Amino acid sequence: MKIVPLDRIEESFRIADFDDPFVIPTETVYGLAARIDREDALKRIYEIKGRPSDNPLIVHVSSQEMLRELIADGIPAVYVPLIERFWPGPLTLVFKCRESLSKTVRGSGSDTVAVRMPKSAVLRRLIERIGVPLAAPSANTSGRPSPTAVGHAIDDLGDKVSLYIDDGPCEVGLESTVLGMIDAKAVLLRPGVVTREALEDALGISIELRNTHSPGQRLLCPGQKYRHYSPAIPVYLFKGVDWQGKMKKIQEGMPGKKIGVMVPSASIGEVEAFKCIDLGESITDCCKSFFAGLRELDKTCDAIFAVTFSTDHEGLAIMDRLGKAATYVIE
Ligand code: TXA
Ligand code: MG
Repeated sequence: MKIVPLDRIEESFRIADFDDPFVIPTETVYGLAARIDREDALKRIYEIKGRPSDNPLIVHVSSQEMLRELIADGIPAVYVPLIERFWPGPLTLVFKCRESLSKTVRGSGSDTVAVRMPKSAVLRRLIERIGVPLAAPSANTSGRPSPTAVGHAIDDLGDKVSLYIDDGPCEVGLESTVLGMIDAKAVLLRPGVVTREALEDALGISIELRNTHSPGQRLLCPGQKYRHYSPAIPVYLFKGVDWQGKMKKIQEGMPGKKIGVMVPSASIGEVEAFKCIDLGESITDCCKSFFAGLRELDKTCDAIFAVTFSTDHEGLAIMDRLGKAATYVIE
């Protein structure tokens, strides 16, 4: 296994290093990448992650020219202001794809492709030099919390991957916002730090939130079917007023258990546990430390206690992940 810092990747560039899946740093989370023209490598992504074969992959491009080669009907007019305002950055858009795009990228073989342009100029230069877009889901074992540092990816994938590109802790810490057009309406499929409010402001229309899937409903984003972001130990999500009292009561019912708590700085003085993680002052800090917090408590504790966030702005993204990670919701 080779770990190369991102800022050294250009000097040691050898095209053959990118034939097999490799781990890339992005501003959101680390990704397990493969060239979209290498069918074997794309299939290996599913094997390495233990990913269900019907869950499509996000494609990363370095330029709008590269995007145009992937998509069928040109860039839809509604996406133009979003691309202008948020690319390069943590916003993924769903397009109609060309027939030639590998069915392995498309998961169940639908006619769409989810595309984003990562923020890092070095990463974009690397994609440019490789010469084809990179498909890259998050570099975790399927169902586990996303990796926000190269060590998290190594913990999950180890020697199954031979090249890890390291760029330190991710700036954002939550996966990209995913937006699609469904029956001519803009739909938020996965909230992220490009917030619903910011998207609505850029588009001048309201956006429907469809970040969960219920049986019987049309499946818009296959990833929503699967359990996500889950540590090996149970996660208790405490809602509403007097969460402190409820937390204490549940803790008293678990004598001898090592409880790990993760809360924003403002609440850290109100909790007592085996391990307390201060997620940070601002909502931006909380997004950044969220997955690392889950992973750290998972290693050292028997249960994780977390509290709800307001669903405004970036809070919606954290609540989406917490809702999916939670084993128990304590109202
Ligand atoms: O920030 C990110 O988006 C990271 C970094 C590495 O770029 N990638 C990431 O990929 O989070 P992944 O595979 O963990 O999550 C992609 C989500 C899945 O829920 C998948 O079902 C959905 O996007 N998706 C992919 N292609 C889609 C499509 N054509 N239509 C609807 N949803 C799609
Ligand atoms: Mg993922």
